Amino acid sequence: MRGSNMQICVLNGSPKGETSVTMQYVRFLELANPDHSFVTRHISRKIVAIEKKPEEWEEICSAIRSADLILWATPVYFQHVPAQYKRFIELLLERNTRDLFAGKYAASLSTSVHFFDQKVHEYLQGISEDLGMNYAGSFSAAMNDLFEEKNQHQLVLFGMDILSACNEKRPELPAYPPLPTGSAKYTPGTISPVETHGKQVLILHDAGPGSNLEAMVRQMTCAFPDAKSVHLNETGMKGGCLGCCQCAFDNHCVYSDGFCSFWKSQVEQADIIIYAGSVRDRYLSASWKQFFDRSFFLGHVPRFENKQQVLMVEGPLARVPGLRENLTSLLGGGNLVDIITDEPKNPDFIDECIRSVVERAVQASLDGYKKPPMFPAVAGHIVLRDAVWGDLRPIFRADHRYYKKHGLYDFPQYQYRKRLSRFFFSLMMGFGPVQKKVKPMMSKHMVQSYARIFSESKVLKEAQRP
Ligand SMILES: Cc1cc2nc3c(=O)[nH]c(=O)nc-3n(C[C@H](O)[C@H](O)[C@H](O)COP(=O)(O)O)c2cc1C
Repeated sequence: MRGSNMQICVLNGSPKGETSVTMQYVRFLELANPDHSFVTRHISRKIVAIEKKPEEWEEICSAIRSADLILWATPVYFQHVPAQYKRFIELLLERNTRDLFAGKYAASLSTSVHFFDQKVHEYLQGISEDLGMNYAGSFSAAMNDLFEEKNQHQLVLFGMDILSACNEKRPELPAYPPLPTGSAKYTPGTISPVETHGKQVLILHDAGPGSNLEAMVRQMTCAFPDAKSVHLNETGMKGGCLGCCQCAFDNHCVYSDGFCSFWKSQVEQADIIIYAGSVRDRYLSASWKQFFDRSFFLGHVPRFENKQQVLMVEGPLARVPGLRENLTSLLGGGNLVDIITDEPKNPDFIDECIRSVVERAVQASLDGYKKPPMFPAVAGHIVLRDAVWGDLRPIFRADHRYYKKHGLYDFPQYQYRKRLSRFFFSLMMGFGPVQKKVKPMMSKHMVQSYARIFSESKVLKEAQRP
C-alpha cells in the first residue's frame, strides 16, 4: 500500500528468530510495502533476556511506543502461541504496559499446518483488546502457502487491509469482553480418600502458595492419597521448545534436561492424570504452555492414549470459552472425565465436584471408558494424518512409523471393500426409476439395519443381564 509512511512493529513469536517460516511471510509483506517501515523484535528467541534485563525490555517498549501498527507474527505451537511468546504477553500485562499500546492498531499473522490455528488468532485478538488496541484482522497461512502466487496475492491484500485500517482509523468492534479479576476464596472441607484399585494417579500443577489452585490440589491429594503430585517446576524443564524439529526423526529432544525422562517415567506410566492450572490472561500459564510445547518431542502422535484425565482450573474459565475448547481438545487420545473450576462460590459444592470427579475417573479407568471424539478431534486427526502422510513425512519419520503401525492412516481410499460396494450402490442410485422408488423411503432405509443390532448385539444382552 502506497501512502504516508507508517511504522509496523513486528513481534516475532518464533523461537527460531530470523530463520523462521513465519518471518518469511513478514519479509514478503515488508518487500510488498516499501513505503512503510517494518521493525522486527525476536521476542521468543530473546525471552530470557527480555524478562531479566531492563535494557532489553526497554528497547522492546520503545519499538512498540514508536509504532503505528503492532503485528503479532507467530507460529502455532501446540494449538496456541509458543510458550516464550506467552510469557512475553504475561510480562506485558504484569508490567502494566497498556498505555504503550492503547489506541494503536494491531493484527496477527501465523504460519502452521492449520491445526487449531484459529485459537492463536482468537487469543491475540483478545490480548490486543485487553491492551486497548483496535484489532484489524488476522492472516493464518499454511507453511507452504507462499510458494503459490494466489496466496502471495492474498498476503499482499491482507497487508493493504491492515495498513489502511490503521491509516484511516477504521472502527473495529471488540469481540472479547474483559475478564473478571479475582475469585472467591476456596477453603476446602474434609474429603475422604477414594479407592484407586491400583490405578496410578499423577497430579500435575503449577499452584502458587496460598492460591485457590493450591487448595484444590491439596483436596485432590486427600482424595487420592497415593497420587504423585508434581509441580511443573519439578518436571525437569530448563527451557521452552526451540521449534528445531530435530526430534522428528527419532523422538529425541535436543535438550538433555530431564523432561523427557520425566515424561517417560511419570506421564506415560499414569492411568489417571489431573492437570491443575490457573487462567492467566486468556490461557493457562506460560509454564503450562512450555510443558505442552516440550511434549512435541513425541511429534504428532496421540500422547494420552488410554488415560483418564481431569482438568482443575482456577479462574474465570466460563468467561473464556475459547480456552475451554482449546483445553478440551489438547489432551489427545485420552478421555477427559470433567473440568472442575473454583468458579462456584460455595466451597462445599467444589468439594462435591472433586469427590465426584475422582470417583468417575477411577471407574472410567477400570471400565476403559472413552467418550467418542467430536468435531475438533475428528477434524484434527484428519488434518494431522494428511500432513504426516504428505509434506511432513520425510522429516517426521517417527510419526510416519507410528501412524503406519497404529492404523492411523485411515484414508477412505484404502477401504477397498467399502469402495467396491459404494461403487455399485452409487451406480444403482444413478437410475431415475430407482431414485423414484427410494426417495419416499429414505428415513426408513437409513435405520433399517439397526433392527439387526437390537436383536443380535452381545453387548446389549450383557447390559440387560440382571
Ligand atoms: C513444537 C511445535 C508445535 C507445533 N504445533 C502446531 C500446532 O498445534 N498446529 C499447527 O498447525 N502447527 C503446529 N506446528 C507447526 C508450525 O506451526 C509450523 O511449522 C510453523 O510454520 C513454524 O513456524 P516458525 O518456523 O516461524 O517457527 C508446530 C511446530 C512445532 C515445532
